[in-house]
Amino acid sequence: MGGMDGLTAIVTGGASGIGLATALHLSGLGARVAVLDLHPDDVPAPLLGIRCDVTDRGSVTSAVDDAAAALGGIDVLVNNAGVGAIGTVADNDDAEWARVFDVNVTGMARVSAAALGYLRSARHPAIVNVCSIAATAGLPQRALYSASKGAVLSLTKAMAADHIREGIRVNCVSPGTADTPWIGRLLAQAADPEAERAALNARQPTGRMVSADEVAQAIGYLASPAAGSTTGISLAVDGGMQELRLRK
Ligand SMILES: NC(=O)c1ccc[n+]([C@@H]2O[C@H](COP(=O)([O-])OP(=O)(O)OC[C@H]3O[C@@H](n4cnc5c(N)ncnc54)[C@H](O)[C@@H]3O)[C@@H](O)[C@H]2O)c1
Repeated sequence: MGGMDGLTAIVTGGASGIGLATALHLSGLGARVAVLDLHPDDVPAPLLGIRCDVTDRGSVTSAVDDAAAALGGIDVLVNNAGVGAIGTVADNDDAEWARVFDVNVTGMARVSAAALGYLRSARHPAIVNVCSIAATAGLPQRALYSASKGAVLSLTKAMAADHIREGIRVNCVSPGTADTPWIGRLLAQAADPEAERAALNARQPTGRMVSADEVAQAIGYLASPAAGSTTGISLAVDGGMQELRLRK
């Protein structure tokens, strides 16, 4: 089949967008895959949907244990579940700051902690976190979201250092704007959705949004034994948005 025959993987937030594309891609590479999501019933076969709220430690622990029992262990964890936030530093109250960090940052730590015991006894253990271009480029109206993704980048490097001696690799991917249901919801709120879509396309030097499948391919590489010497990095999947400076 592919590069992940015989391996097992869990993908948080895998019922939609980047997470769903990733779960299907890992499955296509030969892995047995469980999706941990608030909406597990949306998940198509052969993926195994398990209800999980990454903000609730009890829910995370039982979902990770259930996934490991059903799959026969956990080789790969993809920490993808995340939520957005719009506005400047003045536009979100303390409760919203706490909510977004709880999902986007502490959620990754909770799921990783719950999976560590299984990863330690896996043959090819790897964690891939889903970060964002917002971690490294200043985007307008994204103060809270960017701060949370900056934390994901730092967390990725710290986890990579902590667990390298246990053989566990930890990396992240940093997508540019990816055409997922999330962006659909964002466009629906815009005064002029078509103009907003054109602006989001133009922000990538490629002139278009990133696809969920392109992010899934990058995650699949970092998660696979083929990336055995790669840890502590952020792989950009951003149409050149971070690194290129084009002339008009
Ligand atoms: N779409 C983009 O432009 C883009 C760009 C860069 C990074 N990202 C990141 O990619 C990831 C996925 O984004 P997407 O665009 O596919 O979004 P999406 O909204 O299509 O999917 C997010 C999934 O996460 C799940 N989820 C949300 N809160 C959860 C919780 N508390 N517990 C469990 N599951 C939960 C949702 O149910 C949903 O299935 C996020 O971490 C996001 O920050 C997205």
